[in-house]
Amino acid sequence: MQSAPAEESRRPLAVIVLAAGLGTRMKSKTPKVLHHLCGKPMIAWVAGAVEPLGADRLLVVLGSGAEEVHQFLPERAEVVIQEEQRGTADAVAAAREALEGFEGDVLILYGDTPLLGSEVLTGLLELHARDEPACTMLAVEMDDPSHYGRVNRDADGRVTRVVEHRDASDAEKEIREVNAGVYVFEAAPLWEALSEIGSANDQGEYYLTDAVGILAGGGQAVMAHVIDDQDVVMGVNSRADLAVAAGLMRQRILERHMLAGVTVTDPGSTYVDDGVIIGRDTILEPMTTLSGRTFVGEDCVIGPSAVVVDSTIDDGVRFVSSYAVEASIAAGCTVGPFAYLRPGAALEQGAKAGTFVEIKNSRVGEGAKVPHLSYIGDAEIGAGANIGAGNITANYDGVSKHRTVIGSGVHTGADTVFVAPVEVGDGSMTGAGSVITEDIPGEALGIARSRQRNIGGFARRLSKAGRAGKKNTKRGKQRETP
Ligand code: UD1
Ligand code: CA
Repeated sequence: MQSAPAEESRRPLAVIVLAAGLGTRMKSKTPKVLHHLCGKPMIAWVAGAVEPLGADRLLVVLGSGAEEVHQFLPERAEVVIQEEQRGTADAVAAAREALEGFEGDVLILYGDTPLLGSEVLTGLLELHARDEPACTMLAVEMDDPSHYGRVNRDADGRVTRVVEHRDASDAEKEIREVNAGVYVFEAAPLWEALSEIGSANDQGEYYLTDAVGILAGGGQAVMAHVIDDQDVVMGVNSRADLAVAAGLMRQRILERHMLAGVTVTDPGSTYVDDGVIIGRDTILEPMTTLSGRTFVGEDCVIGPSAVVVDSTIDDGVRFVSSYAVEASIAAGCTVGPFAYLRPGAALEQGAKAGTFVEIKNSRVGEGAKVPHLSYIGDAEIGAGANIGAGNITANYDGVSKHRTVIGSGVHTGADTVFVAPVEVGDGSMTGAGSVITEDIPGEALGIARSRQRNIGGFARRLSKAGRAGKKNTKRGKQRETP
């Protein structure tokens, strides 16, 4: 006989994420769960792990800074406020009212374990559903268990209680099996145990971990799902922990990209945010950071020393030692070394933004080139145009921004300044050093600089006068010296 689909056979599931703690050890104005790793705050990672479980209810317990946290939660999340942070059991108690009448399983996890994935949670729920104890907790053997709650077991290996590090005896401190801070409880025994929890411990707090001892002591079944991977349960309590967790997350993200066909020359110096998409056969050279909503196509070479934020890079682009934010770069473009593409910079197919070039809110047409030392702002550059070295679009008159429109196939001389608003017709040219204040028709030369005058013999006369002057001063000086 075939078993019924999981959806139908499953008991109702409520998830409670505890994220109201002050995060004192972070020494921060920002709520702990809003500290970021790899492009997302901790709470968003945890919410993301919970999402695929398809729980019937999702409650998130928040404290100060709740409004800030809210935006990173899925829409269906029900926020519960824990007014005073009196411990993890007190935080669960805050959610109790909202779950009045709920019958089924309650999965409780903490908002500060960002590396925890859905697979681990599914494994825990499966074990719980199979054996139906009052509580199934997640545990792991840690090389360095300090700071974590220790799992006590009796002679038969049954879980008897969890003791916090600071309350543990010397013998208990030797235990390496720790509480990961993830539990599934059957609702009724959870509420019963909760009402019995006291605060007689080193911190004077109500510890959820005491529920384990209360249930086990009362003869109810408590099980532990013990996993091997100690990294995934890591709790982030300090900035040092945050850096370690971010490092592990980063490695995970890079491995995923490498498996999908991306070459990462030096994973140690490459930073790719969650959600960044990278095509096959693209090479990320050392010291490359891809963050936010960034898309990179196939066959690109990004880096060394590249920063790309919220930008789109199409296939076959070379992007070297440059910085792009909210820019779009079409296939076959070359960028850098040392270009700065700012919001609204759009390079069309095969275009080039070269060395010491800054482009903002401008379209650079197909195959057009801005190779050296230029500022292009609020401009349109037509297909195949070539911008000479050191061109500037003077887009701001002190009050408003104006556009410069340069036609296709235009060749501009070095050091041209375009005083916007100004239009340059297709196929035209500008003379080097021109300050262009008026429109140039198509196929014309715009030249706007004072005519050169050569003054005959001037340099010779100057150097003669100079020599004579020097002699005089020398003699003068000699007379002065004793
Ligand atoms: C907790 C566990 C410990 C476990 C470790 C795993 C307890 C008492 N201890 O310790 O056994 O090994 O996690 O990472 O549970 N929170 C609230 N309200 C409060 C207090 C805390 O919402 O009043 C939230 C925090 O925001 C945090 C979570 O609960 O997300 C855990 O609190 P934290 O203080 O970090 O507990 P640990 O000391 O790490
Ligand atoms: Ca913690």
